Amino acid sequence: MEQLLKKSRSLTLKWPVTAYEHPMRRWDGKIRWFYRTIRAIFDESGVVKEYQSVARDTTARKHAEEKLEKYPQRLEELVRQRTEALRIANIKLNKELNERKKIELALQNSKRRYELLFEENPSMYFTIDLKGKILSVNKFGAQQLGYDVDELLGKSVMMVICKEDKKIVQQQIKNIAHSTKEIESWEFRKVRKDGKIIWVKGSARRVVDDNGKAMILIVCEDITEKLKAQYERERLEKRLAEREKLALLGQLAAEITHEINNPLDIIMTDIDGLIEDFRDLAQISSFAQKIRSQVFRIHRLTEDILSYSKPLPPEVLPVDVNNLLIQTIERLQVYLRPEIKIETKLKPALPLILADGIGLEIVFKNTIQNAIESITQQGKILITTQLKNNHLRISVKDNGVGIEKSRLKDIFKNFYSIKANAKGIGLGLAISSAIVKKHRGTIKVQSKKGVGTTFHVDLPVHTTNELA
Ligand SMILES: Nc1ncnc2c1ncn2[C@@H]1O[C@H](COP(=O)(O)OP(=O)(O)O)[C@@H](O)[C@H]1O
Ligand SMILES: [Mg+2]
Repeated sequence: MEQLLKKSRSLTLKWPVTAYEHPMRRWDGKIRWFYRTIRAIFDESGVVKEYQSVARDTTARKHAEEKLEKYPQRLEELVRQRTEALRIANIKLNKELNERKKIELALQNSKRRYELLFEENPSMYFTIDLKGKILSVNKFGAQQLGYDVDELLGKSVMMVICKEDKKIVQQQIKNIAHSTKEIESWEFRKVRKDGKIIWVKGSARRVVDDNGKAMILIVCEDITEKLKAQYERERLEKRLAEREKLALLGQLAAEITHEINNPLDIIMTDIDGLIEDFRDLAQISSFAQKIRSQVFRIHRLTEDILSYSKPLPPEVLPVDVNNLLIQTIERLQVYLRPEIKIETKLKPALPLILADGIGLEIVFKNTIQNAIESITQQGKILITTQLKNNHLRISVKDNGVGIEKSRLKDIFKNFYSIKANAKGIGLGLAISSAIVKKHRGTIKVQSKKGVGTTFHVDLPVHTTNELA
């Protein structure tokens, strides 16, 4: 109102109209805007007669104007937001482009790698369908067989399989077609275009192509040369082994001849003596005894040689070791002097072992006989059995002369014998150790000069038929 009065009073004859905009509170408290025009009407003397005032509600326009005022601000804000979004999108796009480039490069590389792997790899790659039709083959694979790739595509893989192996290969393809398992180290023969046979070692597996169709990938390596080399090596090794055997046999024959000649010489001398002194009964008896002991020596030698050359029976049988020991001791009673006692401590209910019973008896006989022969005066032999870590241990312990430490390494050698009266032949332990080895067991010795000796024979309890 105050403004209305002020504005009205300012009107003059020269400037009788004014207008302004002002807000006004409505009865309901809301603000509305009005555009008000005031006109002063003057009388002839130039004094204000009246004021005329017209007001137009301009609220709607005012609001529109206000909005319009704020619009550039909003617009600016919007532009700013959009620009930012664009900037981010741009960064993302650039990143994606880079990624894409990288992927493309990697793809190119991997394609090249794949090409190298597939085409130039020195292995033959075949893919075949489940019926055996060749779907693809690498260049190397085709070349190895003397074909061009095109000549093989679409043909049956059987075309390059050697006649003798066709059935097996067909069966293997059938197996693999229904299995997820891989075939490894599968050796068979292929036939080249020129008819030459090559040996290959292959592996195969069922794979699925991009369209979900199953096929078989076969990778083969030519092993013909390798096999040839292996065959040649085996042939040479065999020849070498035969030569070694012959040499050994020759050496053995020489040693045996020597062993037999010695007593024969003695026998000859004694017979000469007999012929000369055939009337002297006492002399005859002495010569006869000497001859007898030398004949006995030859007999023992031939017995040992026989058991040495005796091969293991092809089949091994369950053996009750305790029982076998008791029988062996009984058979050795003839060699026992009354001053020697044999004691046994056999673990009851031992498991049976699969073994060559006759061979084991030779081992037991040799070790017990050695023990008997080691005792010069009174003595005791203790024979025990026990179970030790899946092994059956047979021990023969004596309190005889014992063995010097320096000789222990030699006692298992052929013809190594040091005994009083040159009684020994030196084959017993060599034979025994060979027999124990055939049972995949061990024979060990513990000894102290002047105190005694113990032999331990360890035999695996789970001995199977596969004795060497
Ligand atoms: N229990 C033992 N006590 C002492 N020496 C032993 C015993 N067993 C073996 N020997 C020594 O080992 C050597 C080789 O034994 P062996 O091969 O059975 O041949 P041999 O009994 O014919 O002499 C024997 O000559 C002996 O010197
Ligand atoms: Mg002996």
